[in-house]
Amino acid sequence: MVYTLGIESTCDETAAAVVKDGRIILSNVVASSADLMERYGGVFPEMASRRHAEAIRPVVEEAIAKAGVEIDLIAVARGPGLIGSLLVGMQFAKGLSIAWNKPLIGVNHVEAHLYAAMMEAPWPLKFPALGLVLSGGHTLLLKINSLGDYERIGTTVDDAIGEAFDKVAAMLGLPYPGGPHVEKLAKEGDPTQFAFTTSRVKRSPLDFSFSGLKTAVLYKKGGNRADLAAAFQETAFKDVLGKAKIAYQQFDCQSVFLGGGVCNNLRLRELFYTTFPNVYFPSFALTLDNAAMIAGLGTQKFLERPISDPLDMEALTRIPIA
Ligand code: KG4
Ligand code: ZN
Repeated sequence: MVYTLGIESTCDETAAAVVKDGRIILSNVVASSADLMERYGGVFPEMASRRHAEAIRPVVEEAIAKAGVEIDLIAVARGPGLIGSLLVGMQFAKGLSIAWNKPLIGVNHVEAHLYAAMMEAPWPLKFPALGLVLSGGHTLLLKINSLGDYERIGTTVDDAIGEAFDKVAAMLGLPYPGGPHVEKLAKEGDPTQFAFTTSRVKRSPLDFSFSGLKTAVLYKKGGNRADLAAAFQETAFKDVLGKAKIAYQQFDCQSVFLGGGVCNNLRLRELFYTTFPNVYFPSFALTLDNAAMIAGLGTQKFLERPISDPLDMEALTRIPIA
């Protein structure tokens, strides 16, 4: 048995969790600075770092107390993210590793978002699989050959899909982060009232571009807000679904794993559940930034290669997944 403490501080959530054997969640604690985001309409790196510095110790203590087990391994998100935020989690994890004399594993936050879906799916997982990361910072289409082996087959050339939701929300006068508000408004709207389209990316049929769609919404700003929200959401999701279908067939995929904040959206889930046979979304607790996915993925990495990462491991603001 392996009990892993996971620590996550890449953006604006300070999180810690204890996971048994990479898949069984014993505790999952998240402290969010959502109040700051809503008040100021975005993430301010310096404020986020200060919040992490205040929250990290109580959050980790709570996660350990709730789990009530002795920790064997420490996993930490080493990036991508905001440098000041990352450093808080990294330094805390390194400190614990020294104090407890336990191995330390650094994991990729984006890969962990996908692992969140894998963690709860029935094992053995079926590969090759299609992976989609849909968040405020990423729009990735991946071929997953096995856990840890990814090929990037599509990405966005401009806005990330969550970013497009946030910007459209701002145009419609909705609070930040806008995704959930757009979803709620879209439920009351008729998507057929506006004929929006997404742009094609020349010679890259699996890449995404959302900036044209965003501008199209801007031009219609005076229209019915619910219809605008519905048409925007439907157009963006049909684009993602269409590309997923092509990739699924092209790479003979056996399952689909999705991760990232946009996966909270029920319309997105419905579209995927009704299209593919083996599609796995994370449960809602694991969809937004959390440390259970970090602990889980860290455990799998350590089981595959039981060597601690060095204590001079650096935080990385950008890490490619493939
Ligand atoms: O994964 P995440 O928590 O943070 C990043 O790593 O980016 O994703 C946050 C993004 C935001 O852009 C937010 O608007 C979007 O996910 N989001 C949603 C929904 N809930 C969150 N987008 C559409 N519908 C939702 N229900
Ligand atoms: Zn994230």
